[in-house]
Amino acid sequence: MSLPNIKLADGNTIPQIGLGLWQVKDQAEFNTAVNAAIEAGYRHFDTAQAYDNEYFLGEVWKKSGLKRDELFITTKIAVTNFGHRKALKSFEESLKNLQTDYVDLLLLHFPVTLLRKGAWQALEEIRSTGGTKSIGVSNYTIRHLEEMKSYAKEMPAINQVELHVFLQQPELVKYCRDNNIVVEAYSPLAHAKAMDNEVIAQIAKKHGKTYAQIMLSWLVEQDMVVIPKSVTLSRIRENIDIFDFKLDKEDLAELANQDRDMRTCWSPVHVP
Ligand SMILES: NC(=O)c1ccc[n+]([C@@H]2O[C@H](COP(=O)([O-])OP(=O)(O)OC[C@H]3O[C@@H](n4cnc5c(N)ncnc54)[C@H](OP(=O)(O)O)[C@@H]3O)[C@@H](O)[C@H]2O)c1
Repeated sequence: MSLPNIKLADGNTIPQIGLGLWQVKDQAEFNTAVNAAIEAGYRHFDTAQAYDNEYFLGEVWKKSGLKRDELFITTKIAVTNFGHRKALKSFEESLKNLQTDYVDLLLLHFPVTLLRKGAWQALEEIRSTGGTKSIGVSNYTIRHLEEMKSYAKEMPAINQVELHVFLQQPELVKYCRDNNIVVEAYSPLAHAKAMDNEVIAQIAKKHGKTYAQIMLSWLVEQDMVVIPKSVTLSRIRENIDIFDFKLDKEDLAELANQDRDMRTCWSPVHVP
């Protein structure tokens, strides 16, 4: 099965679907989930220093039999490692944990006030010396991205933000499109906190697909990257099985009406 890739402004590509790894803290559970994901066709894995599982990912990919360049690995600099020097140092530790000499995508996890400029400059340095193929940010609002224009030599290729049918953020999405920044939707299933919407259930029934598949397809059809998390084998397979149908105009219009501005994770909106 060949899965779609999305082209980034820096010329690299990213697989449009990846496995989210937040809150997977048990190593046996982690191994089972990642191995099942590889078996199902996932090649893109989203970890972070703050998830405490980079080491598990390093162990499991090494044993997978896959070559490093067959995988796409994202990690993120934790808020506690912001600033120029600490970001550089902590990244060395990430590479050791991940048992690799580069990552595919390195993100700043959150727009930490005062320290984000130095941290971004560290990411630019890491990219220029081959430690990462692409660099980006996470949880940045339009304001944080606009500010970057005053100090960034290179703008982020990706902004990873909470985005799903119930939190559509149309202004941010338009800004990112206009500025050639790919939107990567985290918590694309709204952290499973709203699995009872009638409109989604009806659309799922119409296409013979599941509720989760409709939520993911809505993002994929807008050319976003999605990183659903699951440790349940059937769901890992279900979540990647979304490329054989298309939502129609009517579905898209109905889904556009489901925006509730509903955040399930941390909000960067008031971060100066
Ligand atoms: N950059 C950031 O600040 C940030 C913040 C949050 C998340 N993220 C990234 O985004 C990833 C995904 O976000 P998330 O973990 O918050 O939430 P999510 O992917 O929206 O939802 C995960 C929840 O949905 C359940 N689930 C998965 N597939 C399902 C399906 N097909 N049907 C029903 N339920 C299903 C999972 O349960 P089971 O696991 O039990 O199957 C889990 O409880 C994270 O793992 C992380 O990599 C990044």
